[in-house]
Amino acid sequence: MNLQIATTPWTTAAGDWLIVPVAEGCELTGPLGQLNDALGGWIARIRESQDFVGKLAETAVSVTPAGIAAKRLLLVGLGTPQKLTEAGLYKALATAARAVSGKKTERVVVALGAEIDAAEALRRSRTAATAFAVGCVGQDLYRNEKKRFPFEMVEILLPAGLDAQTLQPAVDAGLVLGDSINLARELVNQPAQVMYPESFANRAVALAREFQLGCEVLDQPALEKEKMGSLLAVAAGSDRPPRLVVLEHKAAAPGAPVLALVGKGVTFDSGGLSLKPTDGMLTMKCDMAGAATVLATMVAIARLKLPVHVIGLMGLVENMTGGSAMKLGDVLTARSGVTIEVQNTDAEGRLVLADVLDYAVSKGADRIVDLATLTGACVVALGEEVVGAMSNNQEWCDQVLNAAKAVGEDIWQLPMFPHYDELIKSDVADIRNVGGRWGGAITAAKFLERFVKERPWVHLDIAGPAFAASDKPHREGGGTGCMVRTLVELVSRSA
Ligand code: BES
Ligand code: MN
Ligand code: ZN
Repeated sequence: MNLQIATTPWTTAAGDWLIVPVAEGCELTGPLGQLNDALGGWIARIRESQDFVGKLAETAVSVTPAGIAAKRLLLVGLGTPQKLTEAGLYKALATAARAVSGKKTERVVVALGAEIDAAEALRRSRTAATAFAVGCVGQDLYRNEKKRFPFEMVEILLPAGLDAQTLQPAVDAGLVLGDSINLARELVNQPAQVMYPESFANRAVALAREFQLGCEVLDQPALEKEKMGSLLAVAAGSDRPPRLVVLEHKAAAPGAPVLALVGKGVTFDSGGLSLKPTDGMLTMKCDMAGAATVLATMVAIARLKLPVHVIGLMGLVENMTGGSAMKLGDVLTARSGVTIEVQNTDAEGRLVLADVLDYAVSKGADRIVDLATLTGACVVALGEEVVGAMSNNQEWCDQVLNAAKAVGEDIWQLPMFPHYDELIKSDVADIRNVGGRWGGAITAAKFLERFVKERPWVHLDIAGPAFAASDKPHREGGGTGCMVRTLVELVSRSA
């Protein structure tokens, strides 16, 4: 997708679509007034008739707008200006992008605002770049009849007097972010027959080469040498051998702290011998979303050349039921030496992460964020749209929460009171891999905490938001690429 900035008047800008965000209750003056006049008062009329008042992400379409150069016109609501957040702006622009990408286009023009200053123009342009890059890509990987048509050219109209030169880097950064979100979405949307540990690792190697990331892949013998008994036990039931991918972006001054991003990469979660019923298994190609998020974020960090030292670790396994699958009652010895009683083979994500977190600490991680589609319990607690955060360090957790807030992604912190530790005690080993009926998201986090050696660590349970069951006006179903924006923001802030 090509993206340009221009200051052409709205009425004379040519394209397949002119998209105009409109705030609720705004006056029809300036460029918006001129547009209304050119359209013979259309905007005033649809506001009066309440067919379009500008509520957030509300849309109105005119397919034969006489009086302007563009072939079609889409108004999208921004809600009341005082309440407009980053999340709201993104939602409105993504809705617009989705509304106009159902057919092939050559040129889409977006009028990003009339009375906005340079800082606001920068913010809006960057957000628009991301929203348009993401909004025009669908789940068409294997459809002969495509439902969505990526934009060739998007033109952003800004008030005359703003310097396009200074805005271009923000727009480029927004596009990089959009590309990375789409990468995470694609990796998640690929079926498990295509995306398995080895093929995921190959993709990571290719991307590392393309964007100059350091890259190390541990195959089964290497994982055995590392004594990753917990991760290997999950992989044992599958014909697909496991992989651990470690990417490195080292662009900070020597001595700078090392941030580790750790992702759960279960390329398919059948549940193992604790087999999932069909309904629960149906979407389990998405169980590598944590790893996809880490890979996509590493690519964005490298492309943006952020002056930081970040390592990205992806634990890749397939959880199956083969003859050598781990069994209930098995006792595993993790890389750290901690012994684990397996009481449910479907609680496999924590078994994978146990060894990857331990490895991240060995690699020098000073701070850790892990991402995992870890528990249904987190979805029960917070719903499908909110990420659960659990941490051993409030200061570090606040940094993650603040980054999420700035980009408009929803995270809610869950408590980590010491008494939850009781719930993962085992009669025969150091710990067991389930915590009983209640507080399942937290007992899973308590399990992970055992492997981070007291490093400041935030666990993000993305089981709800990583994969969407159906389309919404502002986003496609399937992989969502959630948390890529938050992580890139977090890393940018530490730069
Ligand atoms: N991958 C699942 C969690 C999940 C559920 C992700 C729904 C996305 C949507 C995880 O491996 C799992 O099966 N967790 C179990 C844990 C339980 C056995 C303690 C769960 O949540 O039921
Ligand atoms: Mn599972
Ligand atoms: Zn899982």
